Order: sequence, then structure tokens, then C-alpha cells
Amino acid sequence: MFWSKQSGYSVEGKVVILTGALGAIGRGLALRLVEKGASVALVDIGDEATGATFCSEINQRHGEAHVHYLKIDLRKEKDIIAMFERTEIVFGRIDVLINNAGVASPAKLYEDEEFDRIAGMLEINLRAPIETTRQFVNYIRENDSRRGVVVNMASMGGLLPNRGGEVYGALKAALIHLTRASKSLAPTVRVAAVAPYYVTTPMVLGNPKLQNGNKTVFPELMLDIDQVCRATVRCIEDEGSAGQTFALIGGWTYLRMWLFDFAGLHIRLLAGWSLLVARLLAMLGLK
Ligand SMILES: NC(=O)c1ccc[n+]([C@@H]2O[C@H](COP(=O)([O-])OP(=O)(O)OC[C@H]3O[C@@H](n4cnc5c(N)ncnc54)[C@H](O)[C@@H]3O)[C@@H](O)[C@H]2O)c1
Repeated sequence: MFWSKQSGYSVEGKVVILTGALGAIGRGLALRLVEKGASVALVDIGDEATGATFCSEINQRHGEAHVHYLKIDLRKEKDIIAMFERTEIVFGRIDVLINNAGVASPAKLYEDEEFDRIAGMLEINLRAPIETTRQFVNYIRENDSRRGVVVNMASMGGLLPNRGGEVYGALKAALIHLTRASKSLAPTVRVAAVAPYYVTTPMVLGNPKLQNGNKTVFPELMLDIDQVCRATVRCIEDEGSAGQTFALIGGWTYLRMWLFDFAGLHIRLLAGWSLLVARLLAMLGLK
């Protein structure tokens, strides 16, 4: 079934590392996780004062919530190591990693894009989630009885190529590929992804490329932050989500991309057929 949820796992009582926690979706996710009873390491490059203010906002709304701000630059390996060490010190364990931090570029690739901005997107949108996931998997493996969950914040741009989002989309497509390729880590670590369409956030509303009649933006299909947050928590709790990417689009949230499985079957058939032909030719001495 392609949009059912196999639940059983709950975020209640779990310790979550949430990257990009001071951003539009990150703030919503932090609140949602705390409401559901999780403890959250709020990770962002934003300054300590902004992090502390956000922690006290959460505490005002939810009493003594279990949140802790970590100022981390995900472009630096030593910061990523510190993120895990400090979370372990503060909360005593880590159960879930949400790779939510991501950046988009206001520039057009074939007109005014810059080398450093492309490098920044590569580092934050792809190298960082690869490295955090790698370190998280090693951490879980060192703790025999533990199970871990990783949710990657991909994008619809990683499912459908579009002019204007070439690099951003390519990196999100790679993140989706990483997710699919990591399926066999389950049940030790369950890696899944959500791929939202445009969300009503500054990343979209403040991006000049996406304004003035951009043909990929359909306002009626846009998501609000709450929809993305609910779907992300659902993805964490969905025990059938290993290797899966869930497309989130206006109204039709949380649609499992079963087409990937279908495409995978075609590739296997093609590979099987090619192998058969190659062996047949070899047997006949024609190769
Ligand atoms: N907004 C959308 O329409 C939309 C749609 C699909 C997917 N997404 C994805 O959702 C995620 C969150 O998007 P958002 O709209 O909340 O973006 P946002 O810009 O509001 O938040 C991103 C956060 O990441 C942090 N960050 C950036 N570089 C960092 C670094 N080096 N180290 C640590 N933190 C860093 C920023 O400080 C910021 O708080 C991103 O991965 C984005 O690609 C967004």
C-alpha cells in the first residue's frame, strides 16, 4: 500500500537531533516534536542568543521542555562530531536525526550564479547529511541494543527537475538516492525522506526566482509549515518508511513514491536480461 503508515514507533521520550532548527520549518518541527514528548537538540549556525531566545519561547509554551541549543556549522567535520558528543552529554542518548538544514540560491545557474555559493549548497545540502548520517549509523552500531531513525528533508525539486532549481534539485535528488541506497540499514537505522513541494516560508516567498509568475509555483498546491511538520513526524513514526521518500504536496500529503520501486524493478529486469544475453553469447563463443 503506498500511503499507509505502519506505526508502532513513537517520538515520545526520544532524543532528536534537529538541524536547521532556527529556520522556518525547523522552528515548526521543534515545537511539534516537543508537543509530542520528544527531547530536542536544536542545531543551527545561528548565534547563541537567538538559540537561547528560541529555547525560552519553547519553554514558555510547553513548561520545562527538554530542548538544548547547539551552535554548529554543518560545513565543518569537527562541528558535526561535537554535535553528537554534546547531545549525548546533555541528553544521555540519541534516537533520531533529522537532516533539515538546507539552503537555496537566489541566483540563476546559467546567468549570475557564483562558485562559492554552489560550493556552499553542496556542503550544506549534501555533504552534511551524508556525514551526519554516517556518524549517526556508527554511533547506533556502537550501542548494541539501540535502534535509530534518520529523516532527510529533501524536496519536490529532487523528484522533478526544473529550470531555476538545477543545483538545488540535483542535490536533493542525490539525498533521495542516498535514502534509497541506505534502506538495508534497517532495522538498526531506518533512513527515510520527505520531499515537500513549495512551502510558505521565506525560502520561497523571499526568492526572486520564484516570484512573478514562475511557472513551477502553483499557489493552490503550496504547503504550510504545519503540514510539513506533521508529515515529518509521521515519517519518523512510520516503521515501513525505510528507504522511502514521501512526496508532500498541497492536500495530498505523505504520498509514498512507489514509482521508484517500479523503476527499480525495470532496471533489475534489464540487468537480468543483459546478463542472460552476455552469458549466452559467451557460451556460443561470440564474445
Ligand atoms: N521552504 C520550502 O519551500 C522548502 C520546500 C522543500 C524543501 N525544503 C527544505 O526544507 C529545509 C528547511 O527549509 P526552510 O524553508 O526552513 O529554510 P530556512 O532557510 O528557513 O532554514 C534553514 C536553516 O538552516 C540553517 N543553516 C544553514 N546553513 C547552515 C550550516 N552551515 N550549519 C548549520 N545550520 C545551517 C540556517 O541558519 C537556517 O536556520 C531545507 O532543507 C529546504 O531545502 C524547503
